[in-house]
Amino acid sequence: MEATLRVGLIGAGGIGRYLAYQAKGVSEITLTGVYDANPELTQSAAQELEIPAYPTLSALLEDEGVQAVIVATPPYTHRELCEQALQAGKHVFLEKPMALSVADCDAILQAAERTQRRVMVGHVLRLFPLFYQAKQWLDAGVIGKPLAVAIRRTGNERELFAKGWRADVRQSGGLLMEMNVHELDYLRWLLGTVRVVAAQGIQPFAEPSFIQHWHALFVSETGAVAQIEAGMIDPLGTYRVSIIGEQGTIEHTGFGGTVRYKTHSGEEQTMTPEEINTPEPYQWELRLFARGVLFGEPLPYDGTDGREAVALAEACLQKMNTRQEF
Ligand SMILES: NC(=O)c1ccc[n+]([C@@H]2O[C@H](COP(=O)([O-])OP(=O)(O)OC[C@H]3O[C@@H](n4cnc5c(N)ncnc54)[C@H](O)[C@@H]3O)[C@@H](O)[C@H]2O)c1
Repeated sequence: MEATLRVGLIGAGGIGRYLAYQAKGVSEITLTGVYDANPELTQSAAQELEIPAYPTLSALLEDEGVQAVIVATPPYTHRELCEQALQAGKHVFLEKPMALSVADCDAILQAAERTQRRVMVGHVLRLFPLFYQAKQWLDAGVIGKPLAVAIRRTGNERELFAKGWRADVRQSGGLLMEMNVHELDYLRWLLGTVRVVAAQGIQPFAEPSFIQHWHALFVSETGAVAQIEAGMIDPLGTYRVSIIGEQGTIEHTGFGGTVRYKTHSGEEQTMTPEEINTPEPYQWELRLFARGVLFGEPLPYDGTDGREAVALAEACLQKMNTRQEF
């Protein structure tokens, strides 16, 4: 019989349910049951997913049949839930952002170290086809050493951030933590260690009460420069990444579209997600998590990556808070 990791789901909202559906397609995972702080959601998810409902968090964490948990709850709950799960001896797949401060991320990492359990933070953007392929080309040396990266992600997300925990900066961390932690992680993946040089954000609408559009400038340890522009108030919306290297440029769009490169010597290639043909990203990351726990295989991204992305978001926010007025 194939080895399988027995996983309990904590949080049965949008992404929790989606991850659970994807987990059902992973032969290395068996879902043991679901718990949500809202009992009605626990019940409806249990029915939909055809798995048992845990009446309480303790019931899930005390179930010795559970080896790992998926934590798919709002960011402000991440630290406490992770610490409890790790203390109960469970490995953790945690949705991004890892937590709302570097201090909280460190507390999770320390708990993982103490209990010798693995923590993976869901930086799934890396496994979306165009992002994944760009990194494959970069690593293969197609454009040589990266020199300059620009990431622009804007859209109209005012409705998404208008209600519930996302509207409250103390619960979501605002746009930078809740959404753009993905882009910050991607930038690190492309360039290695980066430092924020300058960041500026604006909050033109009264609600939500956090930065709604921002720009930041970075430098990398290897001497590359980078910029991110991101926002939630742009009805036209764009997702565009450009990586200029010593020998050429890679450019791609976001979740659909193409990734392409062209070199100084005139070589070029364009690919679509269908041509790249990688697995469904959320299913892929769950499979890699399970294999990491079961067989000690490397995780594609882990708690340290989660922490570093939060550290960059925190650093950007600090720069914005100390801005000079004209
Ligand atoms: N990787 C991605 O692409 C992606 C996409 C969406 C959301 N997320 C992340 O997933 C997390 C959840 O987002 P969502 O959109 O599913 O939110 P959601 O509001 O749809 O669901 C969250 C659920 O958690 C439950 N909950 C809250 N506190 C809890 C607790 N202490 N114990 C158990 N359950 C609790 C709520 O009742 C709710 O059902 C966030 O951190 C978000 O950033 C990631």
